[in-house]
Amino acid sequence: MIDTLKQHITEVEKFSADNLEDIETFRIKYLGKKGLLTHFFSEFKNVSNDQKKEFGQTINLLKTSATDKVNSLKAALEDNTKQKASGRDLTRPGEPLELGARHPISVVKNQIIEIFSRIGFNVSEGPEIEDDWHNFTALNLPEYHPARDMQDTFFIQTDPDILLRTHTSSVQVRYMENNKPPIRTISPGRVYRNEAISARSHCFFHQVEGLYIDKDVSFADLKQTLQFFTTELFGKSKIRLRPSYFPFTEPSAEVDVYWGLETETDYRITKGTGWLEIMGCGMVDPNVLENCGIDSEEYSGFAFGMGIDRIAMLQHQISDIRLLSENDVRFLAQFKSSF
Ligand code: DAH
Repeated sequence: MIDTLKQHITEVEKFSADNLEDIETFRIKYLGKKGLLTHFFSEFKNVSNDQKKEFGQTINLLKTSATDKVNSLKAALEDNTKQKASGRDLTRPGEPLELGARHPISVVKNQIIEIFSRIGFNVSEGPEIEDDWHNFTALNLPEYHPARDMQDTFFIQTDPDILLRTHTSSVQVRYMENNKPPIRTISPGRVYRNEAISARSHCFFHQVEGLYIDKDVSFADLKQTLQFFTTELFGKSKIRLRPSYFPFTEPSAEVDVYWGLETETDYRITKGTGWLEIMGCGMVDPNVLENCGIDSEEYSGFAFGMGIDRIAMLQHQISDIRLLSENDVRFLAQFKSSF
């Protein structure tokens, strides 16, 4: 009989219910007037004397566990109804956390910063609303210089001295004015040009400028740095420098990276040549150094500037530059896995 009692105790402990009827049926079964406990108590007199003590203890245990069970189930049920009445269901699973996505431009920018930081370049920034001095004059583009036409400029209302910077080269000037060589800095940022908006060009885009000023910096250093960069960013180490012209560098060059001609896309983006133009560069013109308070007899340096929207478009096969600034979540959500 004691064993049967023990079995009931286990059963009571396991029992669970989430509605009043089931709890009541359970209560009646054990604690009701004609319930099991009444039955076992009436059996007490038939138990042999040496077992009476244990039987008594076990039956009491069954009584307390059944009573406790009924009380705790009722309390839980009440709690639950209260929560529901309060409009809060604490058992509901949480809302899934939406993972954000980094913009493809930020991704390339961070990659470039990371690559140059490995060879000692820091990051500097300047204002997007610039004055004529920092955007043009200090960079060896005095008023009426024909090269100013190369960059259709947005001016701020009627003041011809204030404009939206047309390139991040303006940050070079600010950095040199405020820091002494050796200088190794890259300046990422947004730039503006008054151009017709199409799939291939926009009135604003993003550049990264690079500047290295020290004693005895040579063109060979420039070439080596750029080759390191293209190898790290694109996995392509073959580059060529074509002579070019920028007012702020002398000599100046345009940098092409050998992209290859393996796929149809390669043919399209390189116009069948295999070469892709990625940036302008050169040795900083001594006039620019002097304009920024650096002795051009003592120091020399190189600079480069590249557009990064096009690089992001290449990386992700984006065919229309406008997608980058439309903020369409269907577009942006595709970059969730990018770092
Ligand atoms: N500022 C130039 C542009 O926007 C790019 C550039 C070319 C920057 C040569 C440089 C450079 O620093 O040396 O087209």
